[in-house]
Amino acid sequence: MSRKVLVTSALPYANGNVHIGHMAGAYLPADIYHRYLRLKGVDSVYVCGSDEHGVPITITAEKEGVTPADVIDRYHAANEAAFASADMAFDIYGRTSSPSHHALSSEFFLKLFHAGHIEKASTEQLFCPDCGRFLPDRYVEGTCPDCGAAGARGDQCDACGKALDPLELVSPRCKICGAVPTVRSTTHYFLKLQDFSGRLRSWLTAAEGWRDSVRNFALGWIDEGLHERAITRDLDWGVPVPLDEASGKVLYVWFDAPIGYISFSRQWAAGRGLPDLWRGYWQNPDAEIVHFIGKDNIPFHAITWPAMLMGVGGYNLPSVVVANEYLNFGENKFSKSRGNVIRLDAFSRVFGPDRLRFYLAATAPETQDSEFTWDDFAERVNAELVNVIGNFIYRTLSFASKYFHHAVPDAPLSAPVMAEIAASASDIDSLVERFRFRQALARTVSLARFGNRFFDDSAPWKSRSEDPAAAASVIASSIEIARALSVLLLPVAPSGASRCLAMLNASAEDRPLDTLGLRPPGPRPLGQLSIPFQKIDDAELPSMVKDVMGV
Ligand code: 2FM
Ligand code: ZN
Repeated sequence: MSRKVLVTSALPYANGNVHIGHMAGAYLPADIYHRYLRLKGVDSVYVCGSDEHGVPITITAEKEGVTPADVIDRYHAANEAAFASADMAFDIYGRTSSPSHHALSSEFFLKLFHAGHIEKASTEQLFCPDCGRFLPDRYVEGTCPDCGAAGARGDQCDACGKALDPLELVSPRCKICGAVPTVRSTTHYFLKLQDFSGRLRSWLTAAEGWRDSVRNFALGWIDEGLHERAITRDLDWGVPVPLDEASGKVLYVWFDAPIGYISFSRQWAAGRGLPDLWRGYWQNPDAEIVHFIGKDNIPFHAITWPAMLMGVGGYNLPSVVVANEYLNFGENKFSKSRGNVIRLDAFSRVFGPDRLRFYLAATAPETQDSEFTWDDFAERVNAELVNVIGNFIYRTLSFASKYFHHAVPDAPLSAPVMAEIAASASDIDSLVERFRFRQALARTVSLARFGNRFFDDSAPWKSRSEDPAAAASVIASSIEIARALSVLLLPVAPSGASRCLAMLNASAEDRPLDTLGLRPPGPRPLGQLSIPFQKIDDAELPSMVKDVMGV
């Protein structure tokens, strides 16, 4: 049976436009991984969609003076389109407001409740005397009790990643009116995380392929001692708590959102007319579930969500949780509230998806934060994607076109070239399977540099008259490098790489599984040639940047 993998990206809140910081964190790496797996014949399904509940949605609605439904309808459509413009290959982009998601979330709650993992308790909550209501999660901001950063939200401190309860905040303030809240008691339902400490610890310790940072963060949480966490809220937007006694309360957004990974998989299967298809990924112990997230989501994916799955039973646990650090805008964070974001849709419209994807993959914040600057973007794209890779492919194909009748010459392939291609493919495979996309791309660029050196050193422009057979072999071999580059670039820069394959009259489909399609398809006519990747003109850069930032 072929390997089955379900790839997910964190569900973005449908309360704003996705930006390139998001793209670099949880989306592009997942898309590259999914496309790469498909390329090598793995049965991979990629699931994502909008997170449409919780305080981020209701606060946006209040600020804009519209309903939460207006907010999610607008941003769900906008974000789905933005991702499409960036060539994201989701199999489904679902919505947590969908009835089937509500039904599955209620089912999860009731199973955990009846199994004794959820308990009801009266609790103290912050209450705004001016707004006359409780202040869950992001309705309150203050100073982080752990790291002392200002602007920590009621549910989490962005600066240190610590998950918080609003009552832990130092100097809390109502986010809506700025008033100092009082404390009032209310009743809530709590997930007893401590029931799962032992199982979580053994699972995390035994899990393979995790980055140390993610595993250690989660183990550190367990070491501090897990305790019950409230999974309901006094809000009127969300999945209603499915108990008569709990009217007026909804499930906490972080309880229902990850269930979206399963409910969307089920919707995907139903949409294909095979309603049980999702089980092959979620209920088949041989399948792998790989979650891609930003680092602020680690506690929820490495502790709470697996605990929920353990308590409900019958589903696979995540195989790996891949968390990226942050992409910053120069030295600052991308921040919607500070007005410095680069919207994904605008970027793709102005520069096209390949250049963005190439740059974000080349500078991916995998082990530490990385910085986006416009100059670095233009320089890197021009130096590597255009001058090294694109130029190699184009010079090789134009030579073949001009001197070998626009065809791949029928000539023996150079053994050292074929060995270098095989070594690159194998290095890249092991890097991608360890989620090191940045190094994998660097290895692809180094294959193109090798190609340029091979072409220069072999000087086919000389041998073509002195020793035509040798020149034919150089060109046939260079075309093989160009084909390998195109296949290896497909997950990163799918549009341009597909154009290159068309020029090469080759396809990624007819490949042997082990070598990523590097078996030479032999002599054949070439397709129509064009420049694979366009240079960013220094003189045009400022107006292009203005266009992106001006939306
Ligand atoms: O941090 C966020 O943007 C959340 N909406 C991520 C949710 S991931 C998942 F669990 F759905
Ligand atoms: Zn208030």
